Amino acid sequence: MELMEQRSALAALQDLSASGNFYQGPQSGGRSCRGYISPDQFQLEQDRLICSRPFAAAHSSELPVPGSYKACNILGIPTLLARGRDGRVRAFRNACRHRGMRLVPEGSGCAGRFTCPYHAWTYDDTGSFVTGPHFQEGFPDLLASDLQLHTLICEERWGFVWVVLKGDTLLNPLASLEPIGRDLDWLAASELGIVAATDLDIKANWKLLVEGGLEAYHFRVAHRSTIGPYFEDNLSSYSTLGDNIRSVLPRRSLRGLDLAKMETGVIRQYANILYTLMPTCQLLVQQDHIVWINAMPLAPNRTLLRLVTLASATSAGQEYWDKNHDITLATLGEDFAIAEGIQGNLDGGLEQTLHFGRYESGLGVFNSLVESALK
Ligand code: FES
Ligand SMILES: [Fe+2]
Repeated sequence: MELMEQRSALAALQDLSASGNFYQGPQSGGRSCRGYISPDQFQLEQDRLICSRPFAAAHSSELPVPGSYKACNILGIPTLLARGRDGRVRAFRNACRHRGMRLVPEGSGCAGRFTCPYHAWTYDDTGSFVTGPHFQEGFPDLLASDLQLHTLICEERWGFVWVVLKGDTLLNPLASLEPIGRDLDWLAASELGIVAATDLDIKANWKLLVEGGLEAYHFRVAHRSTIGPYFEDNLSSYSTLGDNIRSVLPRRSLRGLDLAKMETGVIRQYANILYTLMPTCQLLVQQDHIVWINAMPLAPNRTLLRLVTLASATSAGQEYWDKNHDITLATLGEDFAIAEGIQGNLDGGLEQTLHFGRYESGLGVFNSLVESALK
């Protein structure tokens, strides 16, 4: 985030705070309950948006050296990420070309080759078939060169390994993130590591979880026992960068900041910045760490969520990061409980408009971005 952008975002919020006003969109709006429960809508979102955009499959530090691998499930597809001897990370379906057995159990490690536990067909770190017991006699019609593991589109950039499940290899797979690329450069997430992580299974639609971060109207109420007192009441702003959203959530300390003397990077002392990388990856940028909120929608009313604290491990001890992560869990846990509270009513057949006030106009923008991607 450029210094000028930081200054103007904070100046606008400082002015609003000083005058007792709030950041408001031009109009209120809302959405029907249907979009959060409809299996057809969910399938459309999976096909045209979630599986067609970069999914943050791993932080680069999870594949630290040549030979590192991570076997995981991405949106229902068992996936094997492997960093080859050439340093490049590749993604494959974690499926043996013989009879489809899962090649590597979920988890991570270091290996230059992958041997199937069923009949020992073996692949190298580029996914090429190497050998199998009695292969030539048993499979005279098969060519080893045709038995490459099924490759998925995979790019490593900005400190993350991105996988696109449905896409054209000829196009830039990260095109949708390019408009926010300068901000991602600024974050330098590649220099951080995972200091704490938690997996959650949340009974709510993925859009409710994203929406929870796009307004500060609820801070003083829903977060009154956690972060509420440290933030301005009902004050946040946002801007779109392509299909992505950058929200700025000012702390109360912003009131005393002399913007003329502000240096780059200092915005993090006075505001949280939440990047919503369309569709399901959010980066909550705090003073000395980033919370990576990675949602994996499984059903209209179910989302797996991986909550990761990214930080420079040497900047503080593990005890400090554990405590920090617990605070994050407690705070975001309040948001997730609310999302489940809404979803319970939607699943129970509630029929009404979910209203987005002018303070919550980021929710309307987010839903419009989703809807235009589905056309
Ligand atoms: S299924 Fe993998 S070797 Fe047979
Ligand atoms: Fe919240």
